[in-house]
Amino acid sequence: MEQSTIAAPPRLTQLVNCAGCASKMESDVLALVLRGLPAIDDERILVATSTRDDAGVFALSPDLALVETVDFFTPIVDDPATFGRISAANAISDIYAMGGEPLFAVAIATFPESGLDLDVLHAIVRGGTEKAREAGIHVIGGHTVKDPEPKYGLAVTGRVHPRRLVRNSTAKAGDMLVLTKPLGTGLYTTARRRDIISEDELQEAVDSMQTLNRAAAQAMTSVGVDAATDVTGFGLLGHLGQMLTASGVGARIDAASVPLFDLAISLAERDCAPGGTKANLALALRNGVRFADSVSDPLRVVLCDAQTSGGLLIALPQEKTAPLLDALDAAGVAAASVIGMTTAEPSVSVG
Ligand code: CO
Ligand code: CO
Repeated sequence: MEQSTIAAPPRLTQLVNCAGCASKMESDVLALVLRGLPAIDDERILVATSTRDDAGVFALSPDLALVETVDFFTPIVDDPATFGRISAANAISDIYAMGGEPLFAVAIATFPESGLDLDVLHAIVRGGTEKAREAGIHVIGGHTVKDPEPKYGLAVTGRVHPRRLVRNSTAKAGDMLVLTKPLGTGLYTTARRRDIISEDELQEAVDSMQTLNRAAAQAMTSVGVDAATDVTGFGLLGHLGQMLTASGVGARIDAASVPLFDLAISLAERDCAPGGTKANLALALRNGVRFADSVSDPLRVVLCDAQTSGGLLIALPQEKTAPLLDALDAAGVAAASVIGMTTAEPSVSVG
């Protein structure tokens, strides 16, 4: 593989000083950082920070809007090209989650001044560029900064017709909720970093993380849905909570229907949850999420596990659910499952 050109590469994940340092700022902390900023009063701005959506959206004309997003983070796997592919798939996902079509990207990277071969950075960038090509786009610029911890990601620009924009803030009471990828990438990558699982055992999570959400998004936009987001650092319950709050509804989640990677529960039992996952669970409890006694502690952890390049979480009318599942199945999105439904009562219960 690509690694053959790199003489004894150091384990990239071991260069990260603190697992979780590069995880998302907690949403309550983010609220403090963003407080009191000047109001956004430009009518061309269709989506901004207030609804915690996946990307900002700016209308250029009545039938054309730009979708803009950025994401970058420290290595979560050791193979540099794989890290690049995962980071690119993760960044581009926010365009898909808005119902958009990616147009182009620019890269953002940090790299240590010494101790890491430039071939490693090259392999990361090449992996990310390959994944961007798979999404049908080019990486047309970027910026690098010296930093003791390597980081890589993309700022991605996409387009969408304003009428086909899929927000996270427009779920309706009685919608069904569909999740398109299994949960557990945070647990898997943390367990691998601690040598609790092998590269082989990590592979199912890697395969999922480097899979673009393009096919899932095409199925979603072909059917037409009420709302969507993608599941990343705040975990399923965190991103669900943002969607519900922005939409003014609640939800009942059927925990047994949520797709999970094979080892997710056992890794949660073995305390492999990264810091971000633990913070997500604490926040879910502070926000009043009610777990039935039948939902085990490890399962609660998995439902809050901080994901990288996770699936789409889609809210749609009941009668569109079968067509969506058929379209997802036809597109090869095998894990897609109905995981619950939204409620008029604005609370979240997990049974
Ligand atoms: Co997102
Ligand atoms: Co993002």
